[in-house]
Amino acid sequence: MIVSLIVAVAENNVIGKDNNLIWHLPKDMAFFKATTLNHHIVTGRKNYDSIPSKYRPLKDRVNIVVTRQKDYKEKDCEIVNSIASAIDLARKNGETECFIIGGGQIYKSVLENNLVDQMYITHVLEEFEGDTFFPTFDVNDWQEKTLITHLKDDKNKHDFIVKKYKKKK
Ligand SMILES: NC(=O)c1ccc[n+]([C@@H]2O[C@H](COP(=O)([O-])OP(=O)(O)OC[C@H]3O[C@@H](n4cnc5c(N)ncnc54)[C@H](OP(=O)(O)O)[C@@H]3O)[C@@H](O)[C@H]2O)c1
Repeated sequence: MIVSLIVAVAENNVIGKDNNLIWHLPKDMAFFKATTLNHHIVTGRKNYDSIPSKYRPLKDRVNIVVTRQKDYKEKDCEIVNSIASAIDLARKNGETECFIIGGGQIYKSVLENNLVDQMYITHVLEEFEGDTFFPTFDVNDWQEKTLITHLKDDKNKHDFIVKKYKKKK
């Protein structure tokens, strides 16, 4: 099973503010949906809380919420107490590509522990104010490929580039 991470990052590494996303990029949301659909997704409890209730669990995906709380319950979700258990569960279910979807604490932990095989990063080409950041990583450790280049338009107010990074062996 491949473990992938998917994230949208500003030029100053900001990914969120006040437990929310900052930008509204429907085209990138569509990429996120198409990429993760019918797969297992692994989310930190705070990121899961930040998803508007009408959109969660994210449909047509197995939603795995990671929390340290022993009594945490959420309808139609798998709840686990560690990131390793989340990945194990996806593997046990026969998943081929499991997606780590954030937030900041979870991204930091999976990268520090070398659990990620590839990353889909949407680089939003502006700086934003925020309180949650994507960890810096060494681009030399990853083979990168540009998937989408999108210039701002009426519906997507910021330029962005989607790149796929594969961990070098
Ligand atoms: N731009 C993007 O692509 C993107 C993507 C995702 C999220 N975000 C943003 O990121 C922010 C949320 O990120 P965050 O860093 O505050 O929180 P988070 O990573 O989503 O969740 C943190 C929570 O996860 C649980 N947790 C973390 N590490 C754990 C571990 N090792 N074992 C078990 N449980 C663990 C804990 O839950 P308990 O407290 O319940 O124990 C912890 O409080 C929001 O602003 C969101 O909008 C942005």
